[in-house]
Amino acid sequence: MVGAVQFGVLAACIVLFVPMILAGWHLSRNKMLFFSGALFITLAVGVHLTPYFPSITNIISSLSSTVVLDNRTSCLSFLHEIVWDVKPIKGGSLDSLNFEKSWSWSKSTPVITCGFQKLGRKDASDLLNGSWIVVAGDSQARLVVVSLLNLVLDPVEMESIQGDLFKRHSNYATVIEEIGVKLDFIWAPYTENLTTYLMQLKHDRRYPDVLVMGSGLWHMLHVTDSLDYGLSLRSVKKSLLSFASIYSEYETAGSATGSFSVRSPHMFWLGMPVLINSMLNTEEKREKMNEVIQASYEKKLYESKLLRQSGGPLVLLDIKLLSRNCGAKCTVDGMHYDTAVYEAAIHVMFNALLIESQQRL
Ligand SMILES: *[C@@H]1O[C@H](CO)[C@@H](O)[C@H](O)[C@H]1NC(C)=O
Ligand SMILES: *[C@@H]1O[C@H](CO)[C@@H](O)[C@H](O)[C@H]1NC(C)=O
Ligand SMILES: *[C@@H]1O[C@H](CO)[C@@H](O)[C@H](O)[C@H]1NC(C)=O
Repeated sequence: MVGAVQFGVLAACIVLFVPMILAGWHLSRNKMLFFSGALFITLAVGVHLTPYFPSITNIISSLSSTVVLDNRTSCLSFLHEIVWDVKPIKGGSLDSLNFEKSWSWSKSTPVITCGFQKLGRKDASDLLNGSWIVVAGDSQARLVVVSLLNLVLDPVEMESIQGDLFKRHSNYATVIEEIGVKLDFIWAPYTENLTTYLMQLKHDRRYPDVLVMGSGLWHMLHVTDSLDYGLSLRSVKKSLLSFASIYSEYETAGSATGSFSVRSPHMFWLGMPVLINSMLNTEEKREKMNEVIQASYEKKLYESKLLRQSGGPLVLLDIKLLSRNCGAKCTVDGMHYDTAVYEAAIHVMFNALLIESQQRL
């Protein structure tokens, strides 16, 4: 028991001091609070369980706080290990609306070690509290916004904004007062529109805390030229780099004067879904959005080096993988998927945000 008491004291010190060190390193107050809370819970559970496992007590007390802060970077690559359960609703016809979809992370060892979690409304609100979130792109991005709002708003509030949210081809902005979240959806069907928006941000020197972007479907349908798509991705990359240099400029100024800090934005790329050719609703789509063209567009995305996997700044939200695994029962038009798919993407993003806040150490 003495070990447990000592461990408790150690735990208290960690909960108190680690966030203070973080604060010194320009972490936002919200992330700090969240991190502190996560540490507290981890340690509290540890403290309560350790008396029952004397050998674990010894191991834990012999290790320093690095136990809690171990290598989570590699967890990013397991975030999409999600399994689907799609089953018919009894008595319904066999179209996609009559299937019940649910998902969970696989039970593989790395996934279990990483401890991914679906955040409830309260935790999601804590995580996002005080941040500015921008989602820019086409209808896929709009569906992501819907899923995000579904997770933080109650159904009545959600009902009241549906009309505005679903106005075709327009921006949408909202402030969720209770959690101080500002959310912008930017209608940006083409990659050029993303670049324009990034330039605008740079010009205004305003940077969102979380930026989710993606485009490609419109280009595939209306331009159908992967080479040109590749070039447009390169200009997104270029504007993101200047974005990053402005950020480091601020960072230097901030640490020199100690007066303010700008948080590095967390940036995500919203991948394209699997397009199920036979289900696409026009002949033009079936012809131009075929598998060969899809593959060439995807290749350009990887070649652009926008994504983390290829050394770029953006974490991929892999809608292709999620939609493929959910399957044909999860879409009515072979392009727009069931909310469950975008909800899974949001949970992937939340967990990536959690990993990144800890990785800042
Ligand atoms: C963390 O994990 C990644 C991927 O497994 C590895 O490349 C990296 O060296 C690890 N970092 C530390 C500090 O262990
Ligand atoms: C959000 O943060 C503010 C203070 O920054 C706090 O008063 C409020 O309770 C928080 N809300 C949630 C839902 O965590
Ligand atoms: C998006 O970009 C296209 C092509 O550059 C342009 O024609 C269109 O007006 C832009 N749309 C928006 C909403 O900015």
